[in-house]
Amino acid sequence: MTVPKLALTDSDPTTAATDTVVIGTVQGADGLALADGAAAVDAAFDGKLVELLETLGATGKAEEVVKLPTAGKLTAALVVAVGLGAPNADGVVSAEQVRRATGAGARALNGTGRVLSTLGAVDLAAAVEGHVLGGYTFTAYKSDQDKKPAATKIEFTTGAGAKDKAAKAKLKAATAIAEAVWTARDFVNTPPNDLYPASFAERAQKLGEAAGLTVEVLDEKALRKGGYGGILGVGGGSSRKPRLVRLSYKGAKARKKVALVGKGITFDTGGISIKPAGEMHHMTSDMAGAAAVVATVVLAAKLKYPLEVVATVPMAENMPGGESYRPGDVLTILGGKTVEVQNTDAEGRLILADAMVRACQDGPDYLIDTATLTGAQVVALGKRTAGVMGTEDFRDRVAAIGRATGEGGWAMPLPEELRADLSSNIADLANITGHRWGGMLSAGIFLREFVAEGVEWAHVDVAGPAYNTGGPWGYTTKGGTGQPVRTLAAVLADIAENG
Ligand code: BES
Ligand code: MN
Ligand code: ZN
Repeated sequence: MTVPKLALTDSDPTTAATDTVVIGTVQGADGLALADGAAAVDAAFDGKLVELLETLGATGKAEEVVKLPTAGKLTAALVVAVGLGAPNADGVVSAEQVRRATGAGARALNGTGRVLSTLGAVDLAAAVEGHVLGGYTFTAYKSDQDKKPAATKIEFTTGAGAKDKAAKAKLKAATAIAEAVWTARDFVNTPPNDLYPASFAERAQKLGEAAGLTVEVLDEKALRKGGYGGILGVGGGSSRKPRLVRLSYKGAKARKKVALVGKGITFDTGGISIKPAGEMHHMTSDMAGAAAVVATVVLAAKLKYPLEVVATVPMAENMPGGESYRPGDVLTILGGKTVEVQNTDAEGRLILADAMVRACQDGPDYLIDTATLTGAQVVALGKRTAGVMGTEDFRDRVAAIGRATGEGGWAMPLPEELRADLSSNIADLANITGHRWGGMLSAGIFLREFVAEGVEWAHVDVAGPAYNTGGPWGYTTKGGTGQPVRTLAAVLADIAENG
């Protein structure tokens, strides 16, 4: 899918050659009010825009979308008023309010062609992200008559003018970030019969090479030669054999080295410890972590972060079959640690272990892994808030940045006593605890075993947030959400700036 054409404009929204003009509304102290950027449109309606919108029932509440025909008062045929909700006590509307409002507007506008948004005057970067993310559709597998594509072109008026350097830089960064989220969503939404380890690796390789990255793909033979027992064990049951993809970006004047690792289970049946049928189809999303890190390293190259970023991405399909690994097997992870498999459905941590050991061999300053790792994450934090574990300072930093992006994120502990519950009679550790308590945390404790000394580490469990099984809201569409791409991008930007 291709992102709409995006541009800044100084055009008067009332005379611009466009199909739809988007304005913002807020819930003010005295009822509905117009947001910044809407004045010219109001003047075209003789200053009666608030009255007209109120007649249509508008209140300015969050994610409200009200359409108003212009009847020739503007060149565009339609004005769409999107509700930002109530400003804070200082009269300020947050970036997330802008993203959600523009996202809701974009969803209502799909199929309408050219759009001019005045929300750039409120918060340009947030408006770009909201419009582009909300307008995302995945129609590759729909027959033609169902397709309602995103707007073809979106222009933004800004407070500063179209020539403003800072505005241009914001547009460029927000566009690249939104594109990266689309990329991740496309990967997640592509069904597992078309996206399996070899095809996923090939797509990642193409994307990476097009962005100037160095790409290395380890196939089954190379994995065996290299000693990747976790990936080979998990991937053994499928006729579609596993891969490990490494995508490297080295910016000029790279100040820090960041390793990214993402879980790439292209479908998770549970294996021999098979899952119930009910919601198994959701496990098409079990490669969302991989999708996010692939999209993020490509983004790092596009935005030329002064960093070295290497994504190490294990890909496997977890299937039952004659060649499957089984409960009771012992796998040897890269580097020599052994794991007794007690449940083949706790597979993500096994492929991540290999990948994290490999990633640490490069001597990174920071390691971020992300995965749709545990149902326990969803139980603990719900569908929208990622659980963030790891070394304390970096964990807290990643969680706070996640919240600032609007993706969410909450620091969770790694309680020491859970390590003993992962003990095995015959191997160095087991892949499950044998009880249901703190399942997200024990997965984190398991992964900690494979992080090298001295590396600042964050583990981001996105089992809930990566895949929207409900209806769309704000700029979050159905299916793959692209989480945690924006968090990862913001963490990289923060490391580039502050070390
Ligand atoms: N991919 C699942 C986790 C998951 C569950 C992601 C729901 C998204 C939504 C993972 O591989 C898994 O099966 N985890 C098990 C671990 C258990 C066997 C210790 C789980 O959470 O039940
Ligand atoms: Mn599983
Ligand atoms: Zn899984």
